[in-house]
Amino acid sequence: MNFIGFCGRKFKIFVEIFYLSEAFLRVIEMGGFIPDEVVETVRLRADIIGVISQYVVLKKKGKYHFGPCPFHNEKEPSFAVMPEKQIFHCFGCGVGGDVFRFLMLKENMSFPEAVRKLAEQNGVAVPVGVNSIDREEVKREDRAYEINKKAKDFYRHVLQTHDMANEARQYLAERGFSREVLELFQVGFALPAWNGLLTSLSKHGFKPKELAEVGLAATGEGSGRFYDRFRNRIMFPIWDDRGRVVGFGGRVLDETQPKYLNTSETPYFSKGRVLYGLHLAKLPVREEGFVIVMEGYLDVITACQFGVTNAVASLGTSLTREQVRLLMRHTKDIVVAFDADSAGVAATLRGLALLMELGCRVRVVDIPDGKDPDQFIRRQGVQAWNSLVENAFSLVEYTLKKAIGQKEIRTVAEKVKIAQQVLPSLAGLQSEVEKEEGIKVLAKNLSLSWDTVAGELRRFEDLHRKKWPNPDNIAKRKHNILSREDQPDARDRAERGILRLVLEDPALGKVISEERGEILFHRPFHRKVFNLCLETAGSRVYNPVMIFNHLASDEQELLSGLLMEEIPGGDRPQILRGLVGAIDRIEIKERKEQLLREISSAEKIGDQEQVTQLLRDLRQAISLRTP
Ligand code: CTP
Ligand code: MN
Repeated sequence: MNFIGFCGRKFKIFVEIFYLSEAFLRVIEMGGFIPDEVVETVRLRADIIGVISQYVVLKKKGKYHFGPCPFHNEKEPSFAVMPEKQIFHCFGCGVGGDVFRFLMLKENMSFPEAVRKLAEQNGVAVPVGVNSIDREEVKREDRAYEINKKAKDFYRHVLQTHDMANEARQYLAERGFSREVLELFQVGFALPAWNGLLTSLSKHGFKPKELAEVGLAATGEGSGRFYDRFRNRIMFPIWDDRGRVVGFGGRVLDETQPKYLNTSETPYFSKGRVLYGLHLAKLPVREEGFVIVMEGYLDVITACQFGVTNAVASLGTSLTREQVRLLMRHTKDIVVAFDADSAGVAATLRGLALLMELGCRVRVVDIPDGKDPDQFIRRQGVQAWNSLVENAFSLVEYTLKKAIGQKEIRTVAEKVKIAQQVLPSLAGLQSEVEKEEGIKVLAKNLSLSWDTVAGELRRFEDLHRKKWPNPDNIAKRKHNILSREDQPDARDRAERGILRLVLEDPALGKVISEERGEILFHRPFHRKVFNLCLETAGSRVYNPVMIFNHLASDEQELLSGLLMEEIPGGDRPQILRGLVGAIDRIEIKERKEQLLREISSAEKIGDQEQVTQLLRDLRQAISLRTP
């Protein structure tokens, strides 16, 4: 009998006793959720392969079962189920989770509904009238939104009334923003002081530590003193699609760097998971039937001021998967209007690959003369803008245009080279009609015959078609189309390595944290998973899949991806120590860089006291040695 089977049997007995006990009834009444133990019984009885096979034709290959992903359009199967771990994960679109999540997505069920359905099919009784909401977590989340909302009101009030906001008001007026549009986007101002927000929010009963938790305050490492993260910046509140303030972007009043500072990444805010302006654009997007994705806050605000209300911003360069999924809840028709500089073009091309892959219809606005939407609309007018959008390029036209650039193409060799660059986007098109169109465009522009281009495309597709993929290759392919933010750096890799080991064996995690204290995880998600592992380390039965019960849906996708990765071989405690050491070194380096930046900005506003304090912190950071 395998390990899971063994545990399952013991577990069943435990659960049955638990069921009859009063303790169980109390848990239901007090906590109001389906206890983990019941969820685990259902999971053990419902085989993930059996459940998913009802929707997807799966083929076994090694540890995995592969099939075409039921959540995005694809021809080559990159959807994998791993019965050993009881998880599924698509290497193409990133969707993933456990058997309950599969049903939630496929049948549009809530978590309790999915548990009940499988419980019923597998003869497990679940009491009626309970739900799975973790009240503590909800309370904390509400508090985070409350703090952000209060902060927004404070910044807004400062911009409207404070003497020291004169320059900011003037800046916004000079750039031509109307009062109405600033009101609509609730733009504010952070004073050039170290504790303006801290002081104001403390009057409302919010503690400095709480502000730090939502990324609005920071502490000097040595002193432990809290200070405002945003100082002397125009503040753009960022809402989630349900209209809750989750974070801020703050812009300097001149061109000093960094031009924008955003709320730091916290469990409540992650730049790659929100789209600026979506809460306002939702309705117009439905009405217009498409969305325009821009790069910046000010692009969206200007567009809105001139009546283009179906625009959102990606808050930087490339689109992430989460952002595309958010958009796809409202429309699949997407017009990309990134800045015309080279970074913008590169981001556009990466974003396009992702959008195509996830099954969107994409067009691209190529803004003339290196401008961004804000500048273009102000200088050329909204009519000119609308006609740019109406005549937006198809994917093939755009890649072709960028491939040709300023070059003159004459020779056959030159034509072939251009065609090679465009074929991947042509091959990526979902429908045959679109491909047909694309072939025509390419043939016409390169003065080639339709047959020649179609032949090249066929050759290209044959060359790149693989039968049944292996996860490593899919992972590599995936990384080519992921945005830069999604690509793991050294620190990320170290953190993932640690989690991979600790997910497999939580006791290892206990050992290392007792040995050296807190591990400085950079990603809140990693910290969360690590802590969950520690919590479950003592439980009677453990399977990494149980962690899914405590995660939000996008976090479940991250976890399923993580669980699909190979576990490093060798002396595990030793490897773990090595990875933790690597993180410490990176942390110290980043800390030093951060302090240097803060020192220079404190010098700029002449806060000598702060400079002295920061220098002290810096000396301390430098003297820290890695263990
Ligand atoms: N951005 C950021 N951090 C930076 C620079 C940019 O987060 N250091 C994000 C912001 O969301 C910004 C977007 O990238 O809105 C686009 O950057 P950019 O085009 O430089 O700024 P604009 O919004 O166009 O602002 P402005 O017109 O004032 O230059
Ligand atoms: Mn701009």
